[in-house]
Amino acid sequence: MRLILLGPPGAGKGTQASGIMNKYNVPHISTGDIFRKNIKEGTELGKKAKEYMDQGLLVPDELVVNLVKDRLTEDDCKKGFLLDGFPRTVAQAEALDIELNNLGWSLDKIINIEVSKDILVERAVGRRICKNCGATYHVKFNPPKISGECDVCGGQLYQRDDDNEETVAKRIDVYQNQTAPLINYYKEKAILANIDGYNDINKVFDDIVEVLGSEN
Ligand code: AP5
Ligand code: MG
Ligand code: ZN
Repeated sequence: MRLILLGPPGAGKGTQASGIMNKYNVPHISTGDIFRKNIKEGTELGKKAKEYMDQGLLVPDELVVNLVKDRLTEDDCKKGFLLDGFPRTVAQAEALDIELNNLGWSLDKIINIEVSKDILVERAVGRRICKNCGATYHVKFNPPKISGECDVCGGQLYQRDDDNEETVAKRIDVYQNQTAPLINYYKEKAILANIDGYNDINKVFDDIVEVLGSEN
């Protein structure tokens, strides 16, 4: 299955991605995670991306598009993929269409997770992530059993640099101006499925499975 997860910052894309990846056996490709890995490793790409990410702005299209194009040619994508946080502009979506066309592939579904703005800030600011395995928690909505410690591996939990109120507000503005137009872009292609992301995590997952079908 070839899928895209669309939705504003904090909507639950990463949270749902882990369930989808396991159920449908597709690699999870998060451009945000790839940039954060590059920042941690101190690469040139990481240094460039950080300037934008710290301000809540999008990394320029040319840096993102080439990265995703390369990733899609890796072997594991032959069985399908789940893109999370890409495309994020109409130019990125057009570049993806061209690349998929070259590969002879088409998209199966765009899962658009909808959540209202007031809830997004609380979700993002309360998010905690495991340093070791990347599992995501929320101080209120999905707390770990022991505060600050990962249930899965015992790793230390941290907060993303861009998960403060000011940067989250900026990211939401950027989403509305630059990414939300993709909803119409994919609606016209008749492959968009809207999912109510306000519900609890398990219900959102069940709704996604209903759209994708229970066969993997
Ligand atoms: P990225 O990492 O993609 O961040 P984002 O889009 O802002 O989305 P988030 O990861 O913040 O939210 P999410 O939807 O994954 O929510 P999650 O599941 O964690 O991008 C970061 C930056 O990188 C961008 O700002 C940009 O600079 C750059 N970038 C990345 N891709 C780019 C691209 N293509 N082009 C240009 N620049 C790019 O959930 C959030 C919290 O809520 C968690 O704590 C979770 O436990 C909780 N939660 C989840 N679901 C529920 C629920 N149903 N009920 C209650 N709580 C919930
Ligand atoms: Mg995410
Ligand atoms: Zn962990």
